[in-house]
Amino acid sequence: MTSTETPEERKLLDAAADFEHHEGPLTFSERDPGDFWSIECVNIHKSFGRNAILRGLDFCVPEGTITVVLGPSGTGKSVLIKHLIGLMFPDRGDVIVHGQSVPDMLQADLLEMRRRFGILFQDGALFGSMNVYDNVAFPLRQHTDKSEDEIDALVQARLADVGLTTAGTRMPGELSGGMRKRAGFARALVMEPEIVMFDEPDSGLDPVRTLLLCDLIQAMHSLYGGTYILITHDIATARQIGQYVGVLWRGRIVQSGDRDEMFDSSNPFVRQFLNRERGGPLGME
Ligand SMILES: Nc1ncnc2c1ncn2[C@@H]1O[C@H](COP(=O)(O)OP(=O)(O)OP(=O)(O)O)[C@@H](O)[C@H]1O
Ligand SMILES: [Mg+2]
Repeated sequence: MTSTETPEERKLLDAAADFEHHEGPLTFSERDPGDFWSIECVNIHKSFGRNAILRGLDFCVPEGTITVVLGPSGTGKSVLIKHLIGLMFPDRGDVIVHGQSVPDMLQADLLEMRRRFGILFQDGALFGSMNVYDNVAFPLRQHTDKSEDEIDALVQARLADVGLTTAGTRMPGELSGGMRKRAGFARALVMEPEIVMFDEPDSGLDPVRTLLLCDLIQAMHSLYGGTYILITHDIATARQIGQYVGVLWRGRIVQSGDRDEMFDSSNPFVRQFLNRERGGPLGME
């Protein structure tokens, strides 16, 4: 936001920012009967010192879909992801995963819950000292008592899924950015997660690699089902694979809904952001 706004403009901008924010949690009645929410964020507040990052965020993720959360850089997308898996806790508000409150969980329940999540971190987050095969095998060795033969079958299958059949013996440092992401994706899938989260899977990839990674994400979702949540600032990614889209700005989800509804939105911020327009509430702030 520039500092040259008149008080009237300021008021309009604030009104735009507030327009269509969800007031409180969404209810089931807002979706078709039979749908339900996999994750519900209820009025989440999170500050670091005086820096308020999440400011009353309400958001629900429909079960079984690919949901994309879009937001400008530095708005708190990674902070939001950390709340969903209990790596950060809200100052106020609640995060409910499959009906269970994450901040209320005991440590053992939290660990159990995290096992049902697959996560692809922003940079792939592979262990640099292990080859690709061992990286993918790691969660199975850590969290299950499967034999090495069983593990081998699962690891080979996931490496084949992501097109890395021949890369098992390579070290992460020898892989391209796109291959590292695919290896991270194979590892995220290996425990057959109910929910898979992707923190900016497209960061650092060229548009064609991003397109191919999105195709792969979509193919895996069609094959194995589950709830996928993908965080990005890339509109093309949201358009390509988002079935449900939420737009994050100033610590809240400004609007969320089915993709077509969102790309047709009349909300000034959502319109500006999704259509990449210069004029609108979002400035160089
Ligand atoms: N552990 C922390 N302690 C203090 N401040 C933090 C912490 N984690 C995040 N922040 C602050 O919260 C804000 C949002 O950070 P976050 O990483 O969630 O942004 P983002 O939307 O993921 O951005 P990007 O698009 O660059 O990945 C930043 O200003 C960051 O400095
Ligand atoms: Mg981030």
